[in-house]
Amino acid sequence: EKYTVVIPAAGQGKRMKAGKNKQFLLMNQTPLLIHTLRVFEEDILCNSIILVCNKKELDTMHNLISDYQISKVEKIVPGGKERQQSVYEGIKAVKGNPVILIHDGARPFIKEAVIHDLLETVVSRGSAIVAVPVKDTVKQVNNGEVVETVDRSSLWAVQTPQAFRYETIIKAHQKAEDDNYLGTDDASLVEYIGEKVYIVEGDYENIKITTPEDLLFGEAIISSRKGEKK
Ligand code: CTP
Ligand code: MG
Repeated sequence: EKYTVVIPAAGQGKRMKAGKNKQFLLMNQTPLLIHTLRVFEEDILCNSIILVCNKKELDTMHNLISDYQISKVEKIVPGGKERQQSVYEGIKAVKGNPVILIHDGARPFIKEAVIHDLLETVVSRGSAIVAVPVKDTVKQVNNGEVVETVDRSSLWAVQTPQAFRYETIIKAHQKAEDDNYLGTDDASLVEYIGEKVYIVEGDYENIKITTPEDLLFGEAIISSRKGEKK
């Protein structure tokens, strides 16, 4: 089964403190967002890419994808104030694919094998998300005082991509908008309408480039992968 990927890239990158959208920053001489787009450009199971960007950056985005010859971008649509609104604009622009993946523009290190595991799960079971087991001990704290140590064995740190049947995710986003419900990821909106979500185990390389030191981690991941290919 083939899929359409919606890529939200309409954020401001405030925590990066670069004074501009972090997705245009260079990693190994290539813009961060291009690293992400190339994964889907190269995945044979990806039919099309819907890119969501800031209204003011529409021209910049069009130029970027033409400069780097990303051919699968079917549409570039303006996003909203919150990530959730940007994603909703993106999925509303999807035509004709029953399976939708949603993947952050700021996660350039997703592996094709993980995408394919996720795809298999959404087709056979339903809504599916990539996640990794939590490595740190997590404590619940109130006013600087530890309330309790949470049992880590059942905790997973959630990433993207997240995969859904088209009807499921459009219904979930519509209901969230109607109810003014703001979730922390797309799967939480599906949970909100009472539907099941399944976990697919990913890996710790699939970081979201968020703060300045993440660029260093990113460059390190790129050089380690170059080493592997030799
Ligand atoms: N995003 C979006 N629309 C928004 C906010 C975020 O499309 N209104 C996108 C970002 O561009 C990013 C992804 O959602 O690819 C994950 O968001 P995040 O890492 O938080 O990026 P920013 O919101 O840009 O960063 P910050 O929160 O530090 O401002
Ligand atoms: Mg943000």
